[in-house]
Amino acid sequence: MHGSLTAPQASSSIDVLDLFRSVRTASRALGRPLSDADATVQSMPDASPAKWHLAHTTWFFETMVLGQHLSDHRIFDPSFNFLFNSYYESIGERQPRPKRGMITRPSLDEIFDYRAHVDAAVERLLMSDPAPEVITLIELGCHHEQQHQELLLTDILHLFAQSPLRPAYRDPSPVAVSAVDQGPAGFSALEGGIVEIGFDGQGFSFDCEGPRHRALLEPFELADRLVTNREWMEFMADDGYRNPLLWLSAGWATVGAEGWTAPLYWRERDGQYWTMTLRGEQPVDPDAPVTHVSYYEADAFATWAGRRLPSEFEWEHAAAGKPLIGNFADSDRLRPRAASPEEAGIRQMYGDVWEWTRSAFLPYPRFKPVEGAVGEYNGKFMSGQFVLRGGSCVTPPGHIRPTYRNFFPPDARWQFSGLRLAEDA
Ligand SMILES: [Fe+2]
Repeated sequence: MHGSLTAPQASSSIDVLDLFRSVRTASRALGRPLSDADATVQSMPDASPAKWHLAHTTWFFETMVLGQHLSDHRIFDPSFNFLFNSYYESIGERQPRPKRGMITRPSLDEIFDYRAHVDAAVERLLMSDPAPEVITLIELGCHHEQQHQELLLTDILHLFAQSPLRPAYRDPSPVAVSAVDQGPAGFSALEGGIVEIGFDGQGFSFDCEGPRHRALLEPFELADRLVTNREWMEFMADDGYRNPLLWLSAGWATVGAEGWTAPLYWRERDGQYWTMTLRGEQPVDPDAPVTHVSYYEADAFATWAGRRLPSEFEWEHAAAGKPLIGNFADSDRLRPRAASPEEAGIRQMYGDVWEWTRSAFLPYPRFKPVEGAVGEYNGKFMSGQFVLRGGSCVTPPGHIRPTYRNFFPPDARWQFSGLRLAEDA
């Protein structure tokens, strides 16, 4: 999950200072409930320790911004460039990703000191009337850090799910429920035609969201809500995971190799399905959207249902003009929520779960990565991944846009990833 900078019109240093302070405060708050051990262990090669996320986002500011643009900046610790560089080949050697959990030192407290050191320097730079490109870089660093806030939560969930104690990151007492829609999904007809896709507006976007361009859509239908756990249990009961006719070849091979029989984190106990959540292990809510399924599973489910996944262009066209409201991290539920019967039209486009699309993550026409190290942000990942849209229940509020393109490999399940069905009209 990553993007780079396009800034058609630069934001002001005051706006970016506000953004910087709120993002840095939010990350600190995410790390505070964790012990040093919680924040250090790495549960799998794809997940990173919380401590690493907190340090890497700080390294990004120190390396991409302060090292280049604040002449008297004192580097906090030169060894951190090796420890906390993620994948920037042009910046040098780094700790291998699968071994981030071996970084037992520095401690979590030292990482908080590192953060304070860099915070003060970035704030000083922002208050010194910096050049527009410096402001744009700091803004990119803030959006980059928000992406890592979401990853910190998904990675902590994966880590806590490995513990026999199934610890809760947040208070496990039940969250309030309102009226839920238990009826079948409806399908909205959309006309298609030549539509405009991609970012071309005010404010920040990652480079992969543009350039804005035309796309041709055939008429199609889109479900008015996400696929639920109840529907997923019907798929399972109908031998969905055991019927090769439903699966892509690579998906069927993965089901066999990994032994998948249910979404990640599901466990059967006394005839009922339970799932691991950020509020500890909880019964699966049949009305809530299914989450922690791979692209392969989403595609097999759609085939079983006699439908298909939407393309990312269909999704964006349907989302255009809808208010950017939904169940994001600031609701503090930290779980997807059932669709409300009181809402009209296409529901749950934003928040709850990232929606798999059938679109490969590819460059738009005339896309060019920016020059320099930040050019490594997105463009080099445009191979072997699928696009997800709409944000999730752990996406920071304000981070999502109709043009936002998240991407993961087709076997990834530890993100809050689910699906919505589509059909040719
Ligand atoms: Fe990163």
